Amino acid sequence: MILRCYLYEVEKKDLENNAVVYFSHTGHSLETATYLAGRLSWPILTLKEAVGRHFEHLLFVAPIHRGKFPSPVYSFFKRSKVEEAIIVAVHGRIHHGDAIFELQRKFRLPIVGAAYFPTAHAYLPDDHFTPPYGKLDPLLPTFGSGRYFVVPREEGRAKHPHCLPKVNIRLRPGCRACHSCEAVCAYKGIRNGKINPGRCTGCLACLSACPDGLLRLEVTSSLVFYLKTHQSLNEPEIYIGG
Ligand SMILES: Cc1cc2nc3c(=O)[nH]c(=O)nc-3n(C[C@H](O)[C@H](O)[C@H](O)COP(=O)(O)O)c2cc1C
Ligand code: SF4
Ligand code: SF4
Repeated sequence: MILRCYLYEVEKKDLENNAVVYFSHTGHSLETATYLAGRLSWPILTLKEAVGRHFEHLLFVAPIHRGKFPSPVYSFFKRSKVEEAIIVAVHGRIHHGDAIFELQRKFRLPIVGAAYFPTAHAYLPDDHFTPPYGKLDPLLPTFGSGRYFVVPREEGRAKHPHCLPKVNIRLRPGCRACHSCEAVCAYKGIRNGKINPGRCTGCLACLSACPDGLLRLEVTSSLVFYLKTHQSLNEPEIYIGG
């Protein structure tokens, strides 16, 4: 009995009531999460800060990479516990696949709201798209509703090919091996300024981490053309239970 009370206290202590958790490489998911945390007046946590915790209400924001969530998102849900979730998948208006459906299926997530949300594309530096943050507002009252649902799949909709090629990250001379780029890379894709092409996902997190601005994204004109001619998902897709 004493042991049981103790365990209950531990569980209660570990339970974070409400938080917005985000994962972001180039800042778009962070901006979206910041907007939502402001609307809810909830704390905002990085994936690293939040991993392993137990949330009563979790609003989760992360980017789409090649039609899926990046692998650290899967590690997060494997190690954390959630009573009720809203998931926002931030994309570059090309293609979002069934990212939220796949995540929900894998972890049996109790979802009361979900959104595929358009932002500027990380590979298009001159993409000045303004994300319509206010259109996410209808999601927020769904917390506490208990109206769980299965997030719909893309079925029936024309699919974009998964043909986004890998980009090259180039290092200009002058690296002083400060390790700042390594510290922000979630994929062990760079060491002492040297990119490991087998591991680098092209997420671009390291570019802004280099204090000397030595890392550069190389995009071919054919990739730019492909991206610009396939950007069609300009409206958020919002799903609400019930
Ligand atoms: C490696 C990589 C793959 C991407 N794949 C897609 C994609 O399949 N569909 C899409 O619409 N946008 C794609 N994007 C664009 C991102 O989803 C978009 O730029 C998002 O805003 C990035 O979020 P972040 O700034 O929070 O990292 C990709 C971006 C990167 C870096
Ligand atoms: S090395 Fe590649 S995977 Fe790592 S932060 Fe840089 S772009 Fe992202
Ligand atoms: S952050 Fe820049 S200077 Fe530091 S190790 Fe990486 S590339 Fe070199």
